[in-house]
Amino acid sequence: MAKLYVNPNVKKGHINPELQGHFSEHLGRCIYEGIFVGENSDIPNVNGMRTDVVEALKEIRVPVLRWPGGCFADEYHWRDGIGPKEKRKKMINTHWGGVVEDNSFGTHEFMELCSQLGCKTYINGNVGSGTVQEMSEWVEYLTFNGVSPMADLRAQNGRKEPWTVDYFGVGNENWGCGGNMRPEYYGDLYRRYQTYVRNYGRPVSKIACGANAEDYHWTSKVLETTFDHGNGFMNGLSLHYYTLPTGNWGKKGSSLEYDEKDWYRTMKQTLKMEELIKRHGAIMDSYDPGKRIGMIIDEWGTWYDVEPGTNPGFLYQQSTMRDALVAGINLNLFNKNCDRVKMANIAQMVNVLQAVILTEGERMLKTPTWHTFNLYKFHQDGELVESSVETRETGLEEGFKVPDLTESVSRAKDGKLHITLTNLSLEDTADIEGIFADCSIKNVRGTILTGDMRAHNTFDAPDQVHTRDFDAEITADNKVAFKLPPCSVLHLEAELA
Ligand code: AHR
Repeated sequence: MAKLYVNPNVKKGHINPELQGHFSEHLGRCIYEGIFVGENSDIPNVNGMRTDVVEALKEIRVPVLRWPGGCFADEYHWRDGIGPKEKRKKMINTHWGGVVEDNSFGTHEFMELCSQLGCKTYINGNVGSGTVQEMSEWVEYLTFNGVSPMADLRAQNGRKEPWTVDYFGVGNENWGCGGNMRPEYYGDLYRRYQTYVRNYGRPVSKIACGANAEDYHWTSKVLETTFDHGNGFMNGLSLHYYTLPTGNWGKKGSSLEYDEKDWYRTMKQTLKMEELIKRHGAIMDSYDPGKRIGMIIDEWGTWYDVEPGTNPGFLYQQSTMRDALVAGINLNLFNKNCDRVKMANIAQMVNVLQAVILTEGERMLKTPTWHTFNLYKFHQDGELVESSVETRETGLEEGFKVPDLTESVSRAKDGKLHITLTNLSLEDTADIEGIFADCSIKNVRGTILTGDMRAHNTFDAPDQVHTRDFDAEITADNKVAFKLPPCSVLHLEAELA
């Protein structure tokens, strides 16, 4: 029997709702068709945003949305996306799929989307091919309240009031698609560009471009170059890490056709996230022991070979129970490290990579990853509490064994405990006994997502993978006993007496 220890009275940090954030790029069918269909579409919409998708996203309480990229951000010139739609520039999205970008979704539309979702805004600026002036004027256009050229332009375009920009990214992947820079050079550019990301009212949190996966050199050098400035100079430093089952960009593997070995390899690759958080976090600690700068994991998720027959530049892939587990592992890890990790954004929200929603014309489905987010949403804004679980090694190949269980536990404002667990094993049910220190459990209810390792939803069968109620027993000695089936993600809600 595996013991799950929980001490609800030992608080370990605040779980920012933003740990369950999302990312939407002008890439494939993420924005166009996936979210934005235009006011004249036959697909039901409000101001161009498709109603089915917005409703499904509201259900999982999307806390923050990052836009317009990704690599697209460092090619994006925001003035192309404002003003009368018929006058907006048409161009080729050279980075993603070579399709026409008509700029019908721009600044106003993004802000409208966030307002419909009720989420915070995270805009990623252009350092790679944009000027300081362009970035500075975008911030003025978005947030200045008063007489100014950009505030006037905004009013001419139908919006008198400024918007709130919660987060502003100064470049994206500037070590790669965002300009192929060296960290020292980017660090200097960051110092310069961020100067002009002005606070015209509510402060904008500034995010510097951080490392790709285990590029610790980038983290060290960017911090070394930038860190002699005071508070507010940098609020976050990003980190990107994708789960590739093979670890090989040349042949990543299929989203649907995989075997048990691929399963455990994928889990192993996902669990690397823990080491990345610890090691990048240790470098951040050496500059910022007070943890003032948040680690912002603004791109994470699975990345497979694209679905056969689809545009390779659209990054369209299916999502199965494997992805549900990958999401569960990562979200538990973000919770466990909430003292440093302040935001994380799954890549990407709709129709791209590990999407929570897939669309096909007027049809929409919720992926198994959506269900994981739906189970984990109760952690948002809670307090992480002390917890641990006993694990066993599971897997088929030496070098690719993983612990069978991951978990995290939070206490919500109403005092309830929320426990999320993943069982990575494909064979073994975990017999678990929850032991709760210094409290007594009044009642417990559970919801579980489980199924065959390749189970997924399709447009013809959109509800193949869904959650169901789950029983856990409160024992006479105040423990909680339950059996967690293989390949599962669980949420338990416990009320204390
Ligand atoms: O999410 C897809 C791409 O992955 C993003 O545009 C880029 O930032 C990363 O390389």
